[in-house]
Amino acid sequence: MSPSDADRRGMTRALELALRGQGFVEPNPMVGCVVVQQNRIVGEGWHARFGERHAEPVALEAAGAAARGATLYVSLEPCCHHGKTGPCSQAILEAGIARVVVAQQDPFAAVAGGGIAELRRAGLTVEVGLMEPEARWLNAPYLKRVTTGRPWLIAKWAVSLDGKIASRSGDSAWITGPQARRRVHQLRGRMDAILVGSRTALVDNPRLTARPPGARTPLRIVIDSQARLPETSYLVRTAAELPVLVAAGPAAPVARCRRLRQAGCEVWVGTAEDRDQRLLELCDELGRRQMTNVLVEGGGCLLGSLFDAAAFDEVYGFVAPKLIGGTDAPSPLAGRGCLNMDQAITLEGVRLELIDSDILVQGRIPRPPTTLPAI
Ligand SMILES: NC(=O)c1ccc[n+]([C@@H]2O[C@H](COP(=O)([O-])OP(=O)(O)OC[C@H]3O[C@@H](n4cnc5c(N)ncnc54)[C@H](OP(=O)(O)O)[C@@H]3O)[C@@H](O)[C@H]2O)c1
Repeated sequence: MSPSDADRRGMTRALELALRGQGFVEPNPMVGCVVVQQNRIVGEGWHARFGERHAEPVALEAAGAAARGATLYVSLEPCCHHGKTGPCSQAILEAGIARVVVAQQDPFAAVAGGGIAELRRAGLTVEVGLMEPEARWLNAPYLKRVTTGRPWLIAKWAVSLDGKIASRSGDSAWITGPQARRRVHQLRGRMDAILVGSRTALVDNPRLTARPPGARTPLRIVIDSQARLPETSYLVRTAAELPVLVAAGPAAPVARCRRLRQAGCEVWVGTAEDRDQRLLELCDELGRRQMTNVLVEGGGCLLGSLFDAAAFDEVYGFVAPKLIGGTDAPSPLAGRGCLNMDQAITLEGVRLELIDSDILVQGRIPRPPTTLPAI
């Protein structure tokens, strides 16, 4: 086996391990680590939960004395600062590792090349960039938040085969079957927040919870310029147990905001007059709250506004073999949309999944990768 095959094998394993932290580690990145001595894996580790140990010390502990003179593969640059845990660069040096292979530099300001530089200064061989595209793909939500200050927005919808998200009366329960809906609950369980438009909140009276609960409890957010969310709604009635944020506009009546607050909701009042601007303001606010993954569950007006603003990053589109018909029955993306087909967005990294008789089409909005300064 050529050395590069061995390196790819080590990094592939590190990336596989990293994914185990999904939903548990945010706002931290997912990181996996493998220690290899004479072509044999002697230690593995991953960052399992926010606040717990990083991947590198876990893998080094598993390797023990076998780490001396070994190669360490890690899916993201080792940290060099005292955060919730000690610096990983130090642990690597103390373990006597000879060579470090890093998939990607960490853009987080407290690291940003410092971990790699420290290891090189100490005389270790450090190679950066092996399977970097795969590492960027894995941690795209983290990278977006760290580099732009906004969370990764996932648009989710369910359509009939004729492309409707509801009938002309607004009824949408249910388009997909129970298994596809279970898949949505799994997705909800790793989100920091779930967003819906005010009409969806009114018409569907949703709970927006993950059932059964997942790795995290998402903040339930209603985009509601006039703070009209009824106190009798399921969201308001459960706000004391599970957090609800009403994202209102500057013209929302003060008395309504007060009543929602008294009922246990947080009312966030955006300052921009323009409702699309306010959506972006809200994204900045969620980023400040260290939110990494946010699910937007509709309806068509809200998703259309976000699409027109090129604001969402990923799509989970469920298609059911049902026919609804009707010019007035809504589709998932309202708003302006594209004028011509050459402006239509083709998703990348598309995955198709047959779930009972429904199909899940999952893919990402193509964007140029954020470049990091070479070190
Ligand atoms: N099948 C599915 O996947 C699915 C998912 C969700 C909903 N639905 C269905 O979709 C229907 C509701 O969808 P909808 O499109 O009528 O309404 P919507 O997107 O849920 O809510 C639209 C409302 O959100 C508020 N809003 C605030 N800022 C906005 C902005 N920047 N862009 C857009 N909206 C903004 C506006 O009300 P204010 O002016 O009061 O703020 C607007 O009228 C229901 O029938 C529901 O059952 C289906």
